Amino acid sequence: MAILLAGGCGYIGSHTAVELIQAGYEVVIADNLSNSSAKVIDRLFSITGVHIPFYEIDVCDRVGLEQVFQQHKIEAVIHFAALKSISESVELPVLYYRNNLDAVLSLIEVMNQFSCKRFVFSSSATVYGDATPPCVETMPTALPTNPYGRTKLMTEQILSDVALADKDFSVVLLRYFNPIGAHESGLIGEAPSGVPANLFPYLTQVAAGERAYLNIYGDDYPTVDGTGVRDYIHVCDLAAGHVYALDYAAQHTGVEIFNLGLGFGYSVRQVVAAFERVVGIPIPTRIAPRRAGDIAESFSNPAKAQQVLGWKAKRNMDDMCRDAWRWQKMNPHGYAD
Ligand SMILES: NC(=O)c1ccc[n+]([C@@H]2O[C@H](COP(=O)([O-])OP(=O)(O)OC[C@H]3O[C@@H](n4cnc5c(N)ncnc54)[C@H](O)[C@@H]3O)[C@@H](O)[C@H]2O)c1
Repeated sequence: MAILLAGGCGYIGSHTAVELIQAGYEVVIADNLSNSSAKVIDRLFSITGVHIPFYEIDVCDRVGLEQVFQQHKIEAVIHFAALKSISESVELPVLYYRNNLDAVLSLIEVMNQFSCKRFVFSSSATVYGDATPPCVETMPTALPTNPYGRTKLMTEQILSDVALADKDFSVVLLRYFNPIGAHESGLIGEAPSGVPANLFPYLTQVAAGERAYLNIYGDDYPTVDGTGVRDYIHVCDLAAGHVYALDYAAQHTGVEIFNLGLGFGYSVRQVVAAFERVVGIPIPTRIAPRRAGDIAESFSNPAKAQQVLGWKAKRNMDDMCRDAWRWQKMNPHGYAD
């Protein structure tokens, strides 16, 4: 019996593969490499000593997926395979709706064909909109401000409908907050193509001298120091959450939602200060105008994941800075080196 990681060559999927293998699971990866590299599979072998079966397929392609299910007895699917750039989704909404919604529909159809009934989904804090934090799973969701976020909310709804219609189906919706950092080996990490849209990969590229300064988008938010506050979580802690989610899905049917976050936020200035202290490199910054759609503050209440799953993040901001910097130093151009 194996776990299929759809989009498993990506940032979060690759770290989850490590956690699953170390927990004794057999893993299969399907990825079209639209935002990742096949080198991840070799790196995962170096870390785990396990050759992970890899299928370079688009998970929207049902025929390709069927072949994977024919080759392996898949007991559960963890679905990471999505396009994830907010700004690109505004420019190319059809691409985002097509990819992100077709992917989940194809996966469910093929799972039904093979009587596979467990699904773990990579959702996002974006479904809380600008709710006053801490965000709790029972809060009403809000229609996100961009097509990417809307695909996350729509996928949550699709999966909830599937579980309602099939009482044997088990769905775990994991609402990620802001994953950063990298595996402590320095062999896998976040490898954005082009100019990073997220704070951390941009920051590490500034530290490496590849970019001159870090833009801080807005310093007049009603927060501790005027800059935006987010709940940053080490990607290995986030990845570990999937092991707990799978164990839960094996024992329950229906839909359950869990926040995966640290439970408190750091402002951009606090992140920069922590990074400078841990890594010892000054980070030049410039204040830029607020970005449309950005909210002042977002952080989770992760109590449910702790109480129900027994999961809790173990790593702190210093660990996140140290591990992100190790990855950047060892892989200045991501997997392209
Ligand atoms: N990174 C974050 O900050 C964050 C936050 C909240 C939610 N998420 C969600 O978590 C998931 C994983 O995010 P990530 O940061 O690892 O992104 P990523 O881009 O690194 O990984 C996604 C992977 O899916 C693959 N993929 C995309 N469409 C595919 C398709 N149709 N068929 C096969 N493979 C496909 C990509 O090649 C990539 O390897 C995504 O669904 C994302 O929306 C991420």
